[in-house]
Amino acid sequence: MKKALVVMVLLSLVLSGVFAEGTSEKAPANEKLVVGFAQIGQESGWRGAETTSITFYAAQNLDTIQLHFADAQQKQENQIKAVRSFIQMGVDVIGLAPVVETGWETVLKEAKEAEIPVIFVDRMAKVPEDLYATFIGSDFIDEGQKAAKEMIRLLNGKGKVVMLEGTVGASAAIDRQKGFLDAIAAAPGITVIARQSGDFTRSKGKEVMESFLKSYPEIDGAYADNDDMMLGAIEAMKEAGKKPGTQIKTVSVDGVKGIFEAMVAGEANVTVECNPLLGPQFFQAAADLKAGKTVPKWIKSNEDVYRQETAAADLPTRLY
Ligand code: AHR
Repeated sequence: MKKALVVMVLLSLVLSGVFAEGTSEKAPANEKLVVGFAQIGQESGWRGAETTSITFYAAQNLDTIQLHFADAQQKQENQIKAVRSFIQMGVDVIGLAPVVETGWETVLKEAKEAEIPVIFVDRMAKVPEDLYATFIGSDFIDEGQKAAKEMIRLLNGKGKVVMLEGTVGASAAIDRQKGFLDAIAAAPGITVIARQSGDFTRSKGKEVMESFLKSYPEIDGAYADNDDMMLGAIEAMKEAGKKPGTQIKTVSVDGVKGIFEAMVAGEANVTVECNPLLGPQFFQAAADLKAGKTVPKWIKSNEDVYRQETAAADLPTRLY
């Protein structure tokens, strides 16, 4: 509770520009790295961790970094407005976590004309390569494949599976599902009986699972594009008198503390890690771009798979 409060206070200081205007600055304003970051919103614990990683890094480097942070409240139009305002401010670099894959070309062309490099953070967009400098984030197809392999193992290759899907049109959702469906096909005894979007949130994950449970009396496995939706789904399973983790096996993506706690309680089986702690890599890439250095087109995260069997030992080491 205390920690959440500290994070909120720090975030509001960043948002209100206090950090940007602070007196402890050593470098003159024009020598600072000035960055605008257009965040999606706050749909999940994972995204909160990413926001904290970025705002904390900026707060710890006030002498060299000035961050302008915008929360788009899940709306693409708000992200586009934020990018336009960063262009008007003349920031050095723009960070963007695109809520969906499409619809970015016009605003990214404006950034290109203004000679401001754009870094995609955690999610990709479908645009020509010359419209962005680099993508920092995970291989979502690989995450989906890993999740499917775990599901096949948990079900011994046989059973009925439901899929709780992330935001429609988001790269993290599209690619994880592709990876999952491609890899689950290796087990012909497994059937995906239902798929529905829970928009990456816990509350919608719960609603979607409630409706699956009403329509399908036999469900052996549940896969979710993120842990928050699975945590909601686990609540729904318990309320319906089912035993998540035993009667219904679970596999989800992210690796947030909540899912480790559920695994320790025997109510979840596997999480495929997706790293949200991208602040240091983001600012390093931004500094390199400002200095005119070349950065790789994809700065990929290294991630693991975590199972119920080791969750108690893993939990204390989790950072988000
Ligand atoms: O883009 C990454 C995804 O977005 C995470 O898996 C999810 O929790 C988040 O909201």
